[in-house]
Amino acid sequence: MLRYLIGGESHGPALTGIIEGFPANVGIDINEINRDLARRQHGHGRGGRMKIETDKVRFLSGLRGGKTLGSPITFLIENKDYENWSDYMDPCQVDRETKKVTAPRPGHADLAGSIKYNFDDIRNVLERSSARETATRVAIGGIIRQFLKNFGITAACHVIHIGGISSNARVPSADDLKKAELSPVRVADSAAEKQIIELIDRTREDGDSLGGVFEIVITGVPVGLGSYVQWDRKLDARLAYALQSIQGIKGVAFGRGFDCACQKGSEVQDEIYYSQEKGYYRRTNNAGGIEGGMSNGQTIVIRCAMKPIPTLYKPLQTVDIRTKQPCTATVERSDICAVPAAAVVGEAVALTVIGEELLRKLGGDSMEEVRLRWKQWQSR
Ligand SMILES: Cc1cc2nc3c(=O)[nH]c(=O)nc-3n(C[C@H](O)[C@H](O)[C@H](O)COP(=O)(O)O)c2cc1C
Repeated sequence: MLRYLIGGESHGPALTGIIEGFPANVGIDINEINRDLARRQHGHGRGGRMKIETDKVRFLSGLRGGKTLGSPITFLIENKDYENWSDYMDPCQVDRETKKVTAPRPGHADLAGSIKYNFDDIRNVLERSSARETATRVAIGGIIRQFLKNFGITAACHVIHIGGISSNARVPSADDLKKAELSPVRVADSAAEKQIIELIDRTREDGDSLGGVFEIVITGVPVGLGSYVQWDRKLDARLAYALQSIQGIKGVAFGRGFDCACQKGSEVQDEIYYSQEKGYYRRTNNAGGIEGGMSNGQTIVIRCAMKPIPTLYKPLQTVDIRTKQPCTATVERSDICAVPAAAVVGEAVALTVIGEELLRKLGGDSMEEVRLRWKQWQSR
């Protein structure tokens, strides 16, 4: 079984990850992982931090000459900003006062986290609750992506709307997804892209922030990942759990999602057909590729809603945890809108779940073994 753990503080020396249960002899191109990390960093609306960092993965174990060994894969991504923070974030010795945070930001982990862990300094919370850690999840997704490519499974993402301005590419074609990849806000529709960029700029001037919705599209997933037999083996449940764990994600929907609650059964269910060449097939994909907790062979389509960023340059009202007096919330360098970046994180996280489920279904200690089992399964 594939499993992983991640660590690292936002301004600490590095972010780290460890993956266990990954088969041997899988070719891994480090440049492709770094390309995914760069995709996460881009996007109109991101803050100053992303100008400092150029995320690059450094492997410490589990690979030899670009091929996996079947042993734990450990890696790190250095925080370049650490050189400006070493006096306050050194793991062994720090100046505890200079960067102390006592004004919790509404909407962030600050207040609940400091009460839960009994901290008088919210920095201890925000350093880990920050979405900086999503770089490690993108690196892991990048490794899994290369494994899944061997079976023709690929993923892409695009932004559906930001701050209420919608893209008209609601059922995206391959061309739309390519366009979105080149867009600074990951939107395939150029008219909406322009309006969204303007809205982000205006919102920045107002000291406010924005959220939105993105979509993940995963093609080539075979029938039968996940299972209906136990609640925690359902593929949609596992994907929703993982995606909901991304900072700021407040809703996850499959296929038509919430819309289908307003429609009739005959409008929503995807009718089944059969032909010699295609086997079983559908003419619609309202279910978004998952039925009964299992992939049904159609494209998996997932939407995620992200709330607006909680750190505001025009800060909201809060209470100082030291004095209990009213004050304005801490302003830590921040994004105005991170929906395009969150889409890349979502894509990586979803791919990771698909990789876990493929290995759970097929098993295998080496790439050769997994391939053999894949062929047997496909022939059936
Ligand atoms: C890619 C990405 C970047 C983010 N950037 C920021 C940021 O710069 N400032 C901020 O306050 N929140 C940012 N967030 C959102 C917060 O981390 C998140 O709202 C916070 O951890 C509280 O978690 P919750 O919203 O899931 O309850 C970002 C989220 C993602 C996915």
